[in-house]
Amino acid sequence: MFEHLEKYAGDPIFRLNGEFHQNTHPRKVNLTIGLYYDDAGCIPVLPSVRTAEQRRASKAEPRPYLPMEGLASYRDAVQRLVFGADHQALQTGRVATIQSVGGTGALKVGADLLHAAFPDSEIWISDPAWDNHHSIFRGAGVKTHTYSYYDPATKSLRFDQMLAELRVLPPKSFVLLHPCCHNPTGVDLSQEQWLELIPVLAERGLIPFMDMAYQGFGAGLDEDAFAIRAMADAGLVFLVANSFSKNLSFYGERCGGLSVVCGSAQEAQDMLGQLQAVVRRIYSSPPWHGGQITSDVLNDPALYALWVREVADMRARIAIMRRQAHEQLRAKLPDYDSSYFVKQRGMFTYTGLSMPQLLALRERHGVYIIDSGRIAIPGLNTGNINDFTDAMADVLRAG
Ligand code: LMR
Repeated sequence: MFEHLEKYAGDPIFRLNGEFHQNTHPRKVNLTIGLYYDDAGCIPVLPSVRTAEQRRASKAEPRPYLPMEGLASYRDAVQRLVFGADHQALQTGRVATIQSVGGTGALKVGADLLHAAFPDSEIWISDPAWDNHHSIFRGAGVKTHTYSYYDPATKSLRFDQMLAELRVLPPKSFVLLHPCCHNPTGVDLSQEQWLELIPVLAERGLIPFMDMAYQGFGAGLDEDAFAIRAMADAGLVFLVANSFSKNLSFYGERCGGLSVVCGSAQEAQDMLGQLQAVVRRIYSSPPWHGGQITSDVLNDPALYALWVREVADMRARIAIMRRQAHEQLRAKLPDYDSSYFVKQRGMFTYTGLSMPQLLALRERHGVYIIDSGRIAIPGLNTGNINDFTDAMADVLRAG
């Protein structure tokens, strides 16, 4: 009955992460998946999260269904975190927010919603992209295209080209944008570039979908939300997916949010109903445990302050690894320009390594980097950075 179905080739990120775990190389290094590891190579359990969990574990709490839109306290906290507590879009009730099943769940709900609202619209996604962006929107019936973003020659942004392409899109096209820590390249727009882009989106009547999976890993929790707040200031109608997978180290709890910035409070109220309807037909309601813990951390002033420091520590460790990779490579391979390690931001760096070089890294050195050449920096630590730069220098020398 199902023989006609194509074999699933597997996800390029999850598949290679799985292969890494099968490899028996004694000093292997996993730079595949966007997971934050601490300097000991472990996924941290943040003390803020642990404290919230311990408090809850001491009570026997029933597990009712949450409402379709999730916990009210969670949704309020998402709004404050994403938009800033005093933002006029919140004060005027123009934002409808739901608790979503991770950032991916937010993208799926948003994709279904957009397709129902504008069935003829198509989406433009950065080139290169997180592969799943294409899959999610195609899965929702939305045709996907790319806009120019990254220039392999300079390892930086093709901003003028990007702007020129967005300027001529059909009105009501969807545009997927990363407000910070672009996945996979680590190349972001500057604040000035966002301020140049936003009027183009507005004039053209485009509908931005901001995917913020790494808030706090770029420059800071508020700084990383700059583009979202500027867009809301400019009066645009747009969507924001946010995730607690990385900044709360909460991957498997599937906690995220979807916010739709609307034209008025009435529109936002109606939008919440639409979001409930989409959620009901996909998964009915979001998970209880992760929702409560996230809400506890974000709503308790002491736990929140602790969490802000924990995010700053994770961000700082990533920056240290970037710097060490750059400095060690400069010393080992003076002719190779490794400055992109420190110019790009967030979890990922785009190396431009070729497939034969990536295979050599895997086979000779046990260093796993996905086929696009994207490195997940937090896989580096003081124990393996030297092995990593030795391995890089080895394959780069070989050409
Ligand atoms: C990544 O890009 O590695 C992460 O966002 C994990 C994922 O879901 O792909």
